[in-house]
Order: sequence, then C-alpha cells, then structure tokens
Amino acid sequence: MKGLILSGGKGTRLRPLTYTRAKQLLPLANKPVLFYAIEAILNTGIREIGIVVGDTHEEIRAAVGDGSRWGDDVRIEFIQQSAPLGLAHAVLTAREFIGDDRFILFLGDNLIGERLNPLIDSFAAEDCPYHCRILLTPVENPREFGVAELEPLSTDAAIIIESDGAPSEQPERRVRRLIEKPKDPPSDLALVGVYCFDHHIFEAAESIRPSARGELEITDAIQWLIDQGYDVRPHLLRSYWIDTGKMEDILDANRQALKGLAPSIDPTATIADDVTLQGDVTVQAGATIRNSTVRGPAIIGERAVIENAYVGPFSSIYHDAQILNSEVEYCIVLEHSRIVGVPGRIEASLIGRYVEVAASHVKPHAHKLMLGDYSKVGLLDN
Ligand code: G1P
Repeated sequence: MKGLILSGGKGTRLRPLTYTRAKQLLPLANKPVLFYAIEAILNTGIREIGIVVGDTHEEIRAAVGDGSRWGDDVRIEFIQQSAPLGLAHAVLTAREFIGDDRFILFLGDNLIGERLNPLIDSFAAEDCPYHCRILLTPVENPREFGVAELEPLSTDAAIIIESDGAPSEQPERRVRRLIEKPKDPPSDLALVGVYCFDHHIFEAAESIRPSARGELEITDAIQWLIDQGYDVRPHLLRSYWIDTGKMEDILDANRQALKGLAPSIDPTATIADDVTLQGDVTVQAGATIRNSTVRGPAIIGERAVIENAYVGPFSSIYHDAQILNSEVEYCIVLEHSRIVGVPGRIEASLIGRYVEVAASHVKPHAHKLMLGDYSKVGLLDN
C-alpha cells in the first residue's frame, strides 16, 4: 500500500497565521501537524508517501524533505495540485503516483489518537473484497462534515478481528449513503479525514460533478462507488479526532499531542537551581530556564528562554521564543516571539512568529497594538 496526504488548502480560518505559513506546518508539541500524519502512516509499515501540495508547496517541501529523516527506506514524493478544486480532484492529481496500488488517504491537518493498523490491515491484503474503507466518529455537529448512514446490523453480523488477534467489537456492516455537510444529517457519524481506497476511486472522481462549493468532493466520489455496487465499509474511531482548522482546535490538538509526549530534558539545556519543573516537561536543546516554574505537560523549544516566568500545563513554547517576567498557560507561542513583563496571565492563546507582547510604561497609559489583518485580541475588561 501507499500513503497519500493532502496538504494544499489555504487555511483561511486560521488567518493571520496562515498568511505566512502553511496550516499543516503549525506545530503541535513543537512538531508540525503534517508530521503526525506522516508518522501515523509510517507506523503502519507503509514506506512510500505522496504529498499533494498547492500554493504553499515550497515551505512544505523544505520542512519535510525527501523522507530520509524518517529512515533510509522512506520515500516521500510531492505532487503539485494546480488549484484547490476539491479532495477528489487532489486524489486524481496523484493518479500516476498511486498507479494500481491500494492506498490510505490522510488529510494533512487532521490529528487522530490511535494507530491506523486496524483500519488498513485487512484492506492491505490482496484478497480483500472491499473497495473502500472509511473512518467514522460520532460528533455533536454533523452538519459541518461529511456524514455516513450505515446499513442496519444483520443478526449474523461478523466481528472484525484486528492484527493483534483481538475482536474489534465492530460488527461488519456496509455504508449505505454519504452526504457532504447535510442540512438534515441522517446520523451523527462524521467522516474523519482518513480513507482507504483501491484504484476504483479514480474512475469515481472522474465521474462526479463539482459540488455547490465548486469542488470535486471525496464524499461524492465514495457515494459513486456505493451507487455502482462497490463495497464500502466503515471503521469506527475509538479515540479522539481533531480537524485543526480553527484556533480552539489547534490548542486542543496541542493538548493531546503534549499528553502523548514522553518527557525529556536535553543535556544542552540550562536549567537553574531556582527552577521548578512539575509533571511531564520536555526541554529541548539549548533552552534556558531561570527562576521560573514550568508545570507540565509542556514543552520548551530549542534556544527558548524562560525567565522569572510561569509556563502552565498544555503550553508549547517553540524555538527561540522568550517568556520573561510573564505567565502563560494553555498556549502555543511560535518561534522568535517574546512575551515580556505582561501583567496577569495569558491563557488559551495562539501567538504567531516574531510577535512582541510587552507591558508599556510610556504615557498615556493605554493598550498599544499593532495587529495583522484578521488578528483576534481578547483584553481584560476590568
Ligand atoms: C472535508 C471532507 C468532509 C470531512 C472533513 C474532515 O471537509 O469533505 O467530508 O468530514 O474533511 O476533516 P472540508 O474540511 O474540506 O470542509
């Protein structure tokens, strides 16, 4: 099997951060979201991955490289999509790369909390009778996603046996119908951005028409497979799934990524005697912490400086950032940003690159802001 990751898209909901950076490169626990997708696929044993890229291709190519950072046998290829014309269009763009192989499709801004092996193990087998397998999870807001309606359970439903020999407790059933962003959802089962396909998906993507939003929808392509009598099976996700499209989702995904991180202190980091590290804290190479408390799970990036400060749980301070005489909690602070002498605690915030947040002692005593387009600021109202 091969892997295919879609990493085009403009990330409009994450402006202004995505004016200057691909949304798939925003770091969670100081590692780009896209790398989690790559590693999830590599963990299944797949070694060949194609990444479909759009306008932000240069930055993505530079960050990912040729795949050798994940091992000598890993091959990563980039496939240029001419315009963002939909997920099914992106899949068509990758036709030559995929050839006749079966493949797993992963949306590059999605984070899931479990291994993909149970999803693909049976699908990877040559005699697998299915043509497509989709990952589903119940959500509170199904109108915002592709939604699946399953066939009712038959009484003699088989139980899928997973690679570790344990029953998955997921009885076999087919997908009856899929609808993209339905006004009246037939169920609460959303399509998670992870799918398994065989080559029939190319014929499907060629046969459908653009949707109301002008895109070739992967959901419509899968519905075409169902309509032609191909066998489409569901797999229910049993852990979390985060589509990192909005700031709150990024912070939540960062929280999950930090929970999964094994704490470590790099030997080149400087941690003074007056520092308190509580819980799972990772300190990366060349970071300096003085007269501060860091309460994990948290990560302090390469060459970051934390001084007279408090860094609270679920915070990621990226490389070369500085937190001086200030307090942050449940925050992501990106590279080269400085938070200096800020009164009160900064919470639930996503701070971009090269940002300065500092107390001003110059009269008049007022908030002084220079914010990029589409910025959002929440000031205390006392
Ligand atoms: C896309 C798919 C949708 C799926 C979602 C998952 O939506 O079209 O079916 O549920 O990804 O993230 P989009 O993010 O393009 O609106």
